[in-house]
Amino acid sequence: MHNTTTNTTTLRAVLIGYGKMGRTLHTLLNKEGHQVVATIHRRNKHQYTPEKLKALQANIAFEFTEGNSALENIQWAWQANLPVVSGTTGWTPPPQLSSTCQQQKTRLLYSPNFSVGILLLRRAIQMIARLLPQSYNARWQIQEWHHKHKKDAPSGTAQWLASTLIQHSQNLTHWQAIPENEPLPKPLPPHTLPILWYRENEIFGIHEVTLLGSEEKLILRHEAHNRTLFAHGALLAALWLLNQPPGFYTFEDVFNNPQTPA
Ligand SMILES: NC(=O)c1ccc[n+]([C@@H]2O[C@H](COP(=O)([O-])OP(=O)(O)OC[C@H]3O[C@@H](n4cnc5c(N)ncnc54)[C@H](OP(=O)(O)O)[C@@H]3O)[C@@H](O)[C@H]2O)c1
Repeated sequence: MHNTTTNTTTLRAVLIGYGKMGRTLHTLLNKEGHQVVATIHRRNKHQYTPEKLKALQANIAFEFTEGNSALENIQWAWQANLPVVSGTTGWTPPPQLSSTCQQQKTRLLYSPNFSVGILLLRRAIQMIARLLPQSYNARWQIQEWHHKHKKDAPSGTAQWLASTLIQHSQNLTHWQAIPENEPLPKPLPPHTLPILWYRENEIFGIHEVTLLGSEEKLILRHEAHNRTLFAHGALLAALWLLNQPPGFYTFEDVFNNPQTPA
């Protein structure tokens, strides 16, 4: 999935958000022969206009900022006719985004996580949730660990995994975030999926989905070993998006419809 070197498309990328992810993407894009034509953050954004981005002949924008500004940044990049790959967490794309993309003839690919391993984990829990006999006495639990600078909690990925379980389980209706140092409520309210979150050191991202039976325990665990993992996924998504018609896409779409870009 991460072989982007055979691709002939050269990106002229605008990086909206130039923090840990923006910088990691910059390094990867340079390494893979693409160009970064603008690096935009809160403090220099006033120097850029959609017209300026057009003049720079950008052909894609990566958006990795903060949940409260993601949508505004995406719409701003659309004004420069740029397809956008966004990975910002701490917000939920509104359902009407899909029709907005169609009406405005724009493209957006959003994913709270650009790792293939997480996509596989999500599929595995979908399948297990569907296979579980109703009589089986067990409950689900999600745990996530991230670096201490992370601004949102629980992580977008944990919420995404939780929605998947709720959608595919017979007896879950909602999730409840349990911050670190807070005990798990006992008894746990019925139909509740707890998401326990922890902020420690410089952890890139660990997600654990556990099925706790009365006499056994099943743990599915994903660990990101570096940030380049996510940058690789976002780059792959960008190359894929350039060949798509207007619309709203997710990383699952890239995974489901891999193709060699022109
Ligand atoms: N989808 C994935 O696979 C994935 C992977 C890792 C991280 N993420 C998410 O990506 C986002 C960024 O993560 P990070 O670790 O790079 O964060 P970070 O190091 O805090 O960097 C955030 C960047 O966004 C900029 N920013 C904030 N608000 C902005 C605005 N309104 N307009 C323009 N720029 C703005 C900041 O600018 P200033 O420096 O000027 O404040 C900074 O450059 C987070 O939501 C994180 O959870 C997603």
